Amino acid sequence: MSPNYSLEANFQNRIDNEEKIEPRDWMPDAYRKTLVRQISQHAHSEIVGMLPEGNWISRAPSLRRKLALLAKIQDEAGHGLYLYSAAETLGTSRSEMIDLLHAGKAKYSSIFNYPALSWADMGTIGWLVDGAAIVNQVALTRTSFGPYSRAMVRICKEESFHQRQGFDILYTMSQGTEAQKEMVQDAVNRWWWPSLMMFGPTDKDSPNSAQSVKWKIKRLSNDELRQKFIDMTVPQAAVLGVTLPDPNIKFNEKTGHYDFGEINWEEFYQVIAGNGPCNKERLAARIKAHEAGQWVRDAATAYAEKQQQKKSISVA
Ligand SMILES: [Fe+2]
Ligand SMILES: [Fe+2]
Repeated sequence: MSPNYSLEANFQNRIDNEEKIEPRDWMPDAYRKTLVRQISQHAHSEIVGMLPEGNWISRAPSLRRKLALLAKIQDEAGHGLYLYSAAETLGTSRSEMIDLLHAGKAKYSSIFNYPALSWADMGTIGWLVDGAAIVNQVALTRTSFGPYSRAMVRICKEESFHQRQGFDILYTMSQGTEAQKEMVQDAVNRWWWPSLMMFGPTDKDSPNSAQSVKWKIKRLSNDELRQKFIDMTVPQAAVLGVTLPDPNIKFNEKTGHYDFGEINWEEFYQVIAGNGPCNKERLAARIKAHEAGQWVRDAATAYAEKQQQKKSISVA
């Protein structure tokens, strides 16, 4: 029997009773490590995810569209910050997490390694990518770690605006000219499969999932989340009049879900390994922004030190 037996048993009991685990509570090392990895990966995805859309702010077709897109991208920066803060409560600093990202040792969502080629991509990212993110994040509002679950509640409210603004772009274009309709179809063709990959490998190829489910870090498996997303999205595609690029999508009366075709996992693993169309560009953009912000961090540190000195002089 391990010396931590009663601590571990008590921890699992609390989880089984749906209690939230807070930063100062005892937790197994592996629980802490899994969470730091997952939350920081999530934070990096929010921040890197600003890049494909940031490209289109100056090319938005109207002031209204520009304002909405800008607000959406700013929300993503906020999501990154809540999540870095949630991960920091587990004892890893934000700068450590960012260094790992920049060194290529930490991952972010594979989806952001695809290019955004037309204005219809802004609609499609909002509709499909934020749509997939919502499915994942709604489940995470019930995750067992308190700070992560609370960050998710606020993030989900903002994500539903993101999905709506994307859908609205596509709906408007789908009522437009033939060329606009073609742009929508082309964007959906390119983003559909990568958005299904956002949920990660199938359950049989996801060996860490079972432990995460037991700890209630994950509340639903990758395949369950993916199915939920497909079931939600197929009827929306019909409203837009687009064809999803999968001839095998079909409602299954027996299961009550949509069946779908085989995902190209080779492509997923290539992108995860850093060989996606935009991996290098995304990382280079993040590193450049971080280096360009060095003077801001230096100035903030110098200011904080000055304030501290003033305080100690007045105390003396
Ligand atoms: Fe987000
Ligand atoms: Fe979003």
